Amino acid sequence: MAATTSVRNWTSRFGLPYERGPALPRLALEGERDNRMNDISPATPGPAIALSGINLSLGRGAARVHILKDIELHIGSGEAIALVGPSGSGKSTLLMVMAGLERPDSGSVVIAEENLGRLDEDGLARFRGRRVGIVFQSFHLIPTMTAHENVAVPLELAGNPDALDRAAHELAAVGLADRLGHYPAQLSGGEQQRVALARALAPNPAILVADEPTGNLDESTGQQVVDLLFAGHAARNTTLVLVTHDPVLAQRCDRVIRMRSGRLELHATRAPASA
Ligand SMILES: Nc1ncnc2c1ncn2[C@@H]1O[C@H](COP(=O)(O)OP(=O)(O)OP(=O)(O)O)[C@@H](O)[C@H]1O
Ligand SMILES: [Mg+2]
Repeated sequence: MAATTSVRNWTSRFGLPYERGPALPRLALEGERDNRMNDISPATPGPAIALSGINLSLGRGAARVHILKDIELHIGSGEAIALVGPSGSGKSTLLMVMAGLERPDSGSVVIAEENLGRLDEDGLARFRGRRVGIVFQSFHLIPTMTAHENVAVPLELAGNPDALDRAAHELAAVGLADRLGHYPAQLSGGEQQRVALARALAPNPAILVADEPTGNLDESTGQQVVDLLFAGHAARNTTLVLVTHDPVLAQRCDRVIRMRSGRLELHATRAPASA
């Protein structure tokens, strides 16, 4: 089938638009990755996300910035977390670390009981494809593919034999059953974000990370996307980490975690800390 072939060709050559790889050399790690993370096993099975001793600097020379500083964070399976804080405090960078798109200089990242520091780049890409759903403010859809094909890409990457059928089902779940053949340029912003959400949820990921997913949308369209995001999180028991500047949206989560200058300040909202 032509659509399947085009999805397969794309996924084998490029992966998803935000993936590192030959098509996206910005994220290459210059062969130094073997020593970049401590070799720490998950202490106990349980948390969906366990970050320990995370430090990360980016940039070169005078532009080098120490962005993440001594981050310790455990997020339980099925929790919804809001990550808030001033612009430049490191929220997006921390999300990239959780998603396995950025490796820290030190510390351990354990997601769904997988120590990401032990995976090579291919293993990491496979892990992301199966276990991590990502939604960005700016959608990151593949412009030359239809909505249907965009959602099928991660399913193909995960080896799902019914990728196109499943993709159609996921698009119907976000109210886009009648937009399967539309290209991103033929969709509104809200529709594009719903495609991106369907793509992120399609493989039933263990964690769903969303970076200001309503930042480019008007209020009512954003509300629609947020409702679908929370519905997807609840229906699949997917752990959700949501970066937002919207305090009302943050309050819909189980916990609000605040960042300031690369460090975490923890705030319990609905569920007070037991310790
Ligand atoms: N590749 C990079 N090289 C150097 N510095 C970087 C790089 N990426 C991010 N930074 C810096 O790291 C800091 C944190 O950036 P980040 O994008 O994580 O912030 P943020 O909390 O998501 O902000 P916002 O709310 O504006 O999206 C910023 O000061 C930024 O300039
Ligand atoms: Mg950001």
